Amino acid sequence: MRTKILKIDSRKPDKKKIRIAAASIRRGGLVIFPTETVYGIGGDAFNRKAVRSIYRVKGRPSGNPLMVHVSGMEMALGIGAFPKRYLKIIDSLWPGPIAFVVPARRGVPKEVVSGLGTVAIRMPDHKVALELIRESRTPIAAPSANPSKMPSSTKASHATGYFDGKVDVIIDSGSSRKGIESTILDLKTFTVLRPGAFPAEKIAEAFGRKPKITKAARGLATSKVASAPGMRYRHYSPKTPLFLYTGRPSAIRKTVSGMDNYAFIGSRESCRALGRWGVTVLDLGSRKSIEKVASSLFDSLIKVDGFEVDFAIVESFPEGGIGMGIMNRLRKAANHRYFSTRGQLKALISKYAKDD
Ligand code: TXA
Ligand code: MG
Repeated sequence: MRTKILKIDSRKPDKKKIRIAAASIRRGGLVIFPTETVYGIGGDAFNRKAVRSIYRVKGRPSGNPLMVHVSGMEMALGIGAFPKRYLKIIDSLWPGPIAFVVPARRGVPKEVVSGLGTVAIRMPDHKVALELIRESRTPIAAPSANPSKMPSSTKASHATGYFDGKVDVIIDSGSSRKGIESTILDLKTFTVLRPGAFPAEKIAEAFGRKPKITKAARGLATSKVASAPGMRYRHYSPKTPLFLYTGRPSAIRKTVSGMDNYAFIGSRESCRALGRWGVTVLDLGSRKSIEKVASSLFDSLIKVDGFEVDFAIVESFPEGGIGMGIMNRLRKAANHRYFSTRGQLKALISKYAKDD
């Protein structure tokens, strides 16, 4: 299949191009489109064939349900049963980087929700996404635009690298503003199933109630009963073996000094300290601006595979605000391989680093 690439301005979307993409959705095709969090790979949520092809193209396990994107409250109410008492609050948070899990209305294809009785719904805060959904006149089922297990796309070029020739359209609207996926809140249990671009602290503020946050959601434990099925799987991983440094930032240089042929992904401050020693570094931005770190995270996890290194090290960040979402991604990307001492790092290297 020939993939059509459409460049669309995120502030002033060209209607004609949006119509071309929407026509693909209406025909049951797949369209990769921008949102404020990451790019999504979307199809008509009510077209079973389109939904099945999303799973196939992504290589996604059929037990992992898709998120459904809407352009307005009315559309949301047509697919999910939202508790009345929360409607005003939800209306004030949308469009935005938060998805809600609610009971699914009859008629939502079982393929979308993987046979669960619930559905995850979100209204993205991105003009191109909203216009595309409106013009398609149907909710769009869309997981993040990455093959299963790999880092999500935050630029159209990432998506092209992954899916050129496998989808009908890729819309290029530049870099994603937030850079990590939305926060998912289950409204029945009031639990954060996945921390993300919407800070948990702000949920407490908006709802006047603190959400539960499980260890599994923070990426600390792999749970067989994790309630967002996606949390069970390894995820976000580059091909390069990745180790997560959990020690103090100020001790990083001492801990890793003398190690050979690796790349370091971390804060500007740590990159400066290590770069002087000739280490290949991928700078995520200053520790002081955690939002910037989030927005460059996936790009760096994708870039690292372009280097000829035996392994990569990534450092930890505080878990406040969007930091919790960052740490969830990093723990999973590193496949729970952590170190804080030289000895632990050496053990990881001898067990997992590439030896060619
Ligand atoms: O920011 C985002 O949320 C991006 C953009 C494209 O909107 N989308 C995204 O979708 O990250 P996806 O499919 O990669 O992640 C959706 C997550 C998965 O972990 C899935 O298991 C969970 O939501 N999920 C979907 N439906 C669910 C449900 N009914 N109950 C619990 N978890 C659900
Ligand atoms: Mg994903």
